[in-house]
Amino acid sequence: MSLILGIESTCDETAASVVRDGDKVLSNVVATQFHLHARFRGVVPEIASRAHIENILPVVTQALSDAGVTAAELDAVAVAHRPGLIGCLLVGVTAAKTLAWLLGKPLLAVDHVHAHLYSVRLDQTPRVEFPAVGLVVSGGHTALYGMDGWQDVRLIGATIDDAVGEAYDKVAAMLGLPFPGGPQVARLADGGNAKAFAFPRTLLGRESLDFSFSGLKTAVLYALNGIPGKPRSSPAGPQELADLAASFQAACADILATKVARAVHQTGARSVIVGGGVSSNLVIRARLMTLGLPVHLPIGKYCTDQAAMSAGLGELMLRNGQTAGLDLEAIPFSVITR
Ligand code: KG4
Ligand code: ZN
Repeated sequence: MSLILGIESTCDETAASVVRDGDKVLSNVVATQFHLHARFRGVVPEIASRAHIENILPVVTQALSDAGVTAAELDAVAVAHRPGLIGCLLVGVTAAKTLAWLLGKPLLAVDHVHAHLYSVRLDQTPRVEFPAVGLVVSGGHTALYGMDGWQDVRLIGATIDDAVGEAYDKVAAMLGLPFPGGPQVARLADGGNAKAFAFPRTLLGRESLDFSFSGLKTAVLYALNGIPGKPRSSPAGPQELADLAASFQAACADILATKVARAVHQTGARSVIVGGGVSSNLVIRARLMTLGLPVHLPIGKYCTDQAAMSAGLGELMLRNGQTAGLDLEAIPFSVITR
């Protein structure tokens, strides 16, 4: 049996979790900071770092107490040390190093985006067949991975501009919805007609596995306000706003599904693994399920940022002896490359 404490502080969530044997989540504490960033309609890095400093010890303490585990019983401490906002990462990395040193336990250094894929194993036992295609859709990342195993991962496609979650958040801002906008746009779209607006599905080259969402975002802006030099005569009413949200969402789902289908075709994948905040979107989940091969999705609460995914992936690393030293650094970018 193994007990691993995971720590997450890459962006605007301070999280800690105790996971048993790599997939049984004993506690999952997430301190959000939405209230601090809402009036800026986006995450302010300095505010986020300071909030992590205030939250980290209470969150870790709560995670241990919820799990009914003492620090001395832990087998290791796992931390997401990349990619993310540097000031935020430093808080989690410093806390994890200090705990590992204090307890004399191994330190495990996890990639946050990679860990999102591991989320499908939390409190579920998916029978994943490799090779697989991994899709991470979040506020900071839209990336495709070729996977020959849980730890054998290479980047095969990424966004060249906005992440899909970022596009959701910006469309939400255009529609006057509060931050973070993804769930709000999804709710508004429920009452809309997804065929009302023919928004572009930017696919780049015929073989390309990269993504672009900035043109779609601009198309929504033009539909809402009119094109430059030719403003709309009257503002969009409630039904039209719902139609806009639904049509935007359908375009996102089409783009993601098309790219995953291409990646499956090009890599000969036998299954698809999805993670990240946007994977909680029901329309996108449903669209991906139509691809004709097994698609593994996380349980709702494990789609967005949490620390259980780091503890889980950390367990595999511990088993393989891939421990980190106390000189571990926070790295703002992902080192999983093409
Ligand atoms: O994975 P995550 O918690 O954080 C990052 O690593 O970025 O993802 C957050 C993103 C935000 O952009 C948020 O608007 C989006 O996920 N999101 C959604 C939904 N729930 C969260 N987007 C669309 N539909 C949702 N239901
Ligand atoms: Zn994330």
